[in-house]
Amino acid sequence: MKNPWGDEETPYLAIGGESAVRTLVETFYDVIETESPELRAMLPVSTKGSREKLYEYLTGWLGGPPLYVAKRGHPQLRRRHLPFPIGAPQAEEWLRCMGKALDQTGVEGPIRLFLEHKLGPLALHMVNR
Ligand code: HEM
Repeated sequence: MKNPWGDEETPYLAIGGESAVRTLVETFYDVIETESPELRAMLPVSTKGSREKLYEYLTGWLGGPPLYVAKRGHPQLRRRHLPFPIGAPQAEEWLRCMGKALDQTGVEGPIRLFLEHKLGPLALHMVNR
């Protein structure tokens, strides 16, 4: 294995590129909308924009085209989350929903372990309460 996520050049390629990231994000928000009232309550009535932003962000973060930065500038992710009350329980809930989305979309093997390893600290970094 060439890299922690597998033999592909980037995690973006390892997960399956554009369609895989799109499906993951759609599934993640569907999970939130069906079973996570607490996270759902922080989001706008329509999650169309939220879905688009996370898709753009994850694409660049995984080593694909830097869509988010090109469109919206520096992510400043922690600062952009300050308006939302995020404690450790909310970060854990975000990770639970993402884990379920990864399960449902069949993301397995080294790329799955790599993502879990990276997303855990990133979610905790958003804790602001
Ligand atoms: C820790 C728990 C988290 C909670 C409760 C949370 C919640 C939210 C909420 C309520 C929004 C606003 C949605 C909107 O503007 O439509 C948002 C935006 C966003 N979140 Fe999170 N988030 C969390 C963690 C993360 C993580 C780990 C990532 C990255 C992998 C992430 C990426 C983003 C992005 C890219 C945006 C859009 C920022 C913008 O352009 O305004 N979030 N988040």
